[in-house]
Amino acid sequence: GRQMVKICCIGAGYVGGPTMAVIALKCPDMEVVVVDISEARIAGWNSERLPIYEPGLDDVVKQCRGRNLFFSTDVERYVGEADVVFVSVNTPTKTRGLGAGKAADLTYWESAARMIADVSRSDKIVVEKSTVPVKTAEAIEKILAHNSRGVRYQILSNPEFLAEGTAVRDLFAPDRVLIGGRETPEGQAAVKVLKDVYARWVPEDRIITTNLWSAELSKLAANAFLAQRISSVNAISALCEATGADVTEVAYSIGKDSRIGPRFLSASVGFGGSCFQKDILNLVYICECYGLPEVADYWRQVIGINDYQKSRFVNRVVSSMFNTVAGKKVAVLGFAFKKDTGDTRETPAIDVCRGLLGDKAVVSIYDPQVTEEQVRRDLAMNKFDWDHPRHLQPVGEPADQPVAVTSDAYEAARDAHAVCILTEWEEFRNLDYGRMYDIMQKPAFVFDGRNIVDPEKLRDIGFIVYAIGKPLDQWLRDMPAVA
Ligand code: NAI
Repeated sequence: GRQMVKICCIGAGYVGGPTMAVIALKCPDMEVVVVDISEARIAGWNSERLPIYEPGLDDVVKQCRGRNLFFSTDVERYVGEADVVFVSVNTPTKTRGLGAGKAADLTYWESAARMIADVSRSDKIVVEKSTVPVKTAEAIEKILAHNSRGVRYQILSNPEFLAEGTAVRDLFAPDRVLIGGRETPEGQAAVKVLKDVYARWVPEDRIITTNLWSAELSKLAANAFLAQRISSVNAISALCEATGADVTEVAYSIGKDSRIGPRFLSASVGFGGSCFQKDILNLVYICECYGLPEVADYWRQVIGINDYQKSRFVNRVVSSMFNTVAGKKVAVLGFAFKKDTGDTRETPAIDVCRGLLGDKAVVSIYDPQVTEEQVRRDLAMNKFDWDHPRHLQPVGEPADQPVAVTSDAYEAARDAHAVCILTEWEEFRNLDYGRMYDIMQKPAFVFDGRNIVDPEKLRDIGFIVYAIGKPLDQWLRDMPAVA
C-alpha cells in the first residue's frame, strides 16, 4: 500500500487553512495538522464559524475535521511529528530598516525555520507555501543546516496560486501546481513525495516541476503580470477620458486577440488585496539588489499607475465638486478590495477615503461584508502594518475621523453630494438610483470606480456621472482635474 505521510502546515491563514483542508479531503489516508501561534485563529478553525469566508470551505472542513484534519496551537509537537512541513506564514513588506517599504519581511519565516530546526528529530521535507523572495530557500537551508543535529532537510518551493473568493474551486481544479526542488537525487525524491500528494486529484500534466529558483520567481512574476494587466488597462482609461474613447470598448476589442485574451482587463479605481503590491515591491527590491535598476523601474511603474489611478479618482471627485469637498457628505459604496469577500487588505477604498478625508469631506461608507470596526481600523492604520498579525500590533485608538459606517446604501447616500462606487458588488448594480437621487443634495454626483452602472440611465435621472475610462460629461470637461 501507500506510505502514510504526515503533514503539518505552519500558518492557518487564507492560504494554509483552505489548502490543507483540500489536501486532507483528497488524501483521507494522510494526517494533516494546521498549526498557528494565534489562538484566536485556531479556535476559529475548530468552531462552527471559520475565521475566513470562502464559498465551499465550510463543507470541505466539515468533511475532514477531526478525521484526518486538525487545527492546533501545539506548533512544536506537530512539526516534530511531521514528514512534510508546509510553511504558510505571512510575508509582509518591511516597515523599517533596510529595504523598508519594499523588501519582504521574513521575520515570521525565519522564526518558523528556527523552530523547525529546534523540534525536529527525524528527516523532513520543508515546503515554502508562502510567497517569498527568489533565493529564500537558500537562506532557509542555511538556518536548518546550521542547527540540524544530524537531521536532514529538503526544501521545496510550492507557491500557491489560489485567488480569494474562489479558493476552494481553484484548489480543486488548479490551472497548475508548481513544485521546485534541488536537482540532486535527494531533492528529486522530495519533489516526488509532494507530487504524489497533488497527483491524487490534479492531472499529471498540470503538475510542473522546476528548479527552486524558477518556482520561487514564477510566483512573483505571475502576480506582477496579473497586476500589470490591470495597470495597463487603467493607464489606457486615463487616455480614454482625455480623447472620448470608451475603455470598455477598447478592452473588449483588444481582449478578442487570442494572444491577449479577455480576462482581467476591467478598468477600475485600482487593484487591491494582500498580494499584488507586496509581491511587486518585493520583485522591485530583488531587481535592485541584483543590480538591475531598469527592470526594477519597469515593474515599479505597475504600482505607480495603480497609485495614480486612485489619486486621479479622488481628484475627479474634488475638482468636479467646485474643487472642494470640505464639509460635504460623500457616500462610499463598497470597501472590500473586490466583491464576494470581506477582505480589505490594501483595498483602494482606504486610499480614496483618506484622500477625501484629507480634503475635509464627511465620508459615509456602506459595504455588505465589512464591519464598522474593520473600516475604522483600516483608516487608522499605517501603511503595510495590516499584514503583521494583530496580536503583534500596537493597540491604538482609531483616529477621530468624520466617518460613518451605515447598514445600507440609501442611508449612506442620504443628504450626500456624491456617491462613489468602489467595489463591484452585484447589489450596487440593482440599486434604485432614482430614489437615491431624490434624497441627495443637488447637483448630485455618481463616481463609478468599477464601471457597474449605466452612465446614460443615471444622467437621465439627473446625476452628473463620472465612470472610469468613459466619455466625460460636459460638466467634467469644464472642470479639468489636476493630476
Ligand atoms: P495570513 O496572515 O492570513 O496567515 C498567516 C498566518 O501565519 C497567521 O495566522 C499568523 O498568525 C501565522 N504565523 C506567523 N508566524 C508564525 C509562526 N512563526 N508560527 C506559527 N504561525 C505563524 O496570510 P495568508 O493570506 O494566508 O498568506 C500567507 C502567505 O501566502 C503569504 O506569503 C502570501 O503572500 C501568500 N499567498 C497569499 C494568497 C492570498 O490570497 N491571501 C494567495 C497566494 C499566496
